[in-house]
Amino acid sequence: MTDRIAKLELNGESYEFPVLSGTVGPDVIDIRTLYAKTGHFTFDPGYTSTGSTESGITYIDGGQGTLLYRGYPIEQLAEKSSFLEVSYLLLNGELPSKAEFAEFEEKITRHTMLHEQMVKFFEGFRRDAHPMAIICGAVGAMSAFYHDSTDITDPKQRVIASHRLIAKMPTIAAWAYKYSVGQPFIYPRNDLGFAANFLRMCFAVPAEEYVVSPTMARAMDRIFTLHADHEQNASTSTVRLAGSSHANPFACIAAGVASLWGPAHGGANEACLNMLREIGSVDRIPEFIERAKDKNDPFRLMGFGHRVYKNFDPRAKVMQQTAHEVLSELGVENNPTLQVAQELERIALEDDYFIEKKLYPNVDFYSGIILDAIGFPTSMFTAIFALARTVGWISQWKEMIDDPKQKIGRPRQLYTGATARDYIDISER
Ligand code: CMC
Repeated sequence: MTDRIAKLELNGESYEFPVLSGTVGPDVIDIRTLYAKTGHFTFDPGYTSTGSTESGITYIDGGQGTLLYRGYPIEQLAEKSSFLEVSYLLLNGELPSKAEFAEFEEKITRHTMLHEQMVKFFEGFRRDAHPMAIICGAVGAMSAFYHDSTDITDPKQRVIASHRLIAKMPTIAAWAYKYSVGQPFIYPRNDLGFAANFLRMCFAVPAEEYVVSPTMARAMDRIFTLHADHEQNASTSTVRLAGSSHANPFACIAAGVASLWGPAHGGANEACLNMLREIGSVDRIPEFIERAKDKNDPFRLMGFGHRVYKNFDPRAKVMQQTAHEVLSELGVENNPTLQVAQELERIALEDDYFIEKKLYPNVDFYSGIILDAIGFPTSMFTAIFALARTVGWISQWKEMIDDPKQKIGRPRQLYTGATARDYIDISER
């Protein structure tokens, strides 16, 4: 907090608004009384200058390329921590002690199975359904299966719902995949780690043993860690907005899944790999670079650019290194998609258009390459993002519900439609 004020001159009157400071990052002008004092709203489509909430979970400095979860740099967490420990951190604010972690791990591990009736729910989908469509439906349907954790006024139920969502998302995502390839659902195994269990549920078949590669499990865990939270992005804001009306957590997370699906957000990793395949060979890259620069062509280089990072996305740096580890273990470094990706990265980083506009490869550029190499179809990429982001969504939802100042989200508008006019009967139109 500061005692500084911002002054607004409007129609010959002067108004004052407090300037608030967080622990780090730009100060904000508190305009909550603006409408009451002046009869004006602010206008900020896309919320490029609007802070929608106070939050102590994730901090991003887009200019510096910094990302902190509860104060800890993402690079340190990706190297030294694990997705489950990061989940505890995001949910509870502090890294767990050994005993706290053991208890948390046990709880998540023991909540991974889905209500058996949900199998029938999966079977109701067409085989060619997109996994995100299934996940959206299955997560929304959880509110119909887990009635004992939908009362948001009960803190215990809120915790159970959080654990259920984190634990069951891998099973839901893996089953969405299994269903699409016509293979039997593989049930979770409690003796495997979070990422290894997910890989097994995706790639094992009952006919033979499936051995999880530690490199793949580590890469998967890193992908989860790097995608776990990202401040007030579109899907997180969607979860908060849905939750602000006191909707149950399963319904709110389903809303987040829907928002994440779009190609400008979580769908970018899928769109990026499809684009790399469409480019097909290194010699076609200049043609696509020209299209990306052409104002009359809606084409954009998927996996490049970010609303907040105007410097290298710190998650992309970690992913770049993981991509090399995975590809060398799999021996697929000469794969043509990867060659296109590497060359595209090199050219875009040297091209004036991309330099001037600060368009760097983002996390989805590299995560798509890794997931492809592990064997996931592109349609699963966003599903994996949703699985990981569930912990961020639920942490942000929890923070919002715990906040006594929380109000229903209700933006206003600049109305540009018709002014009041009289109804004309259809016979006279
Ligand atoms: N390729 C070519 N030009 C681009 C690109 C791109 N990927 N991204 C932005 N630009 C240009 C854009 O045409 C505009 O040019 P001008 O100023 O001449 O009109 C300028 O850069 C600024 O673009 P913007 O759309 O105003 O920027 P934004 O902050 O609203 O958009 C973005 C951010 C991520 C939606 C955008 O960069 C984009 O569409 N990137 C491709 C999709 C993508 O990879 N998304 C994943 C983001 S990371 C994962 C996540 O957080 O969800």
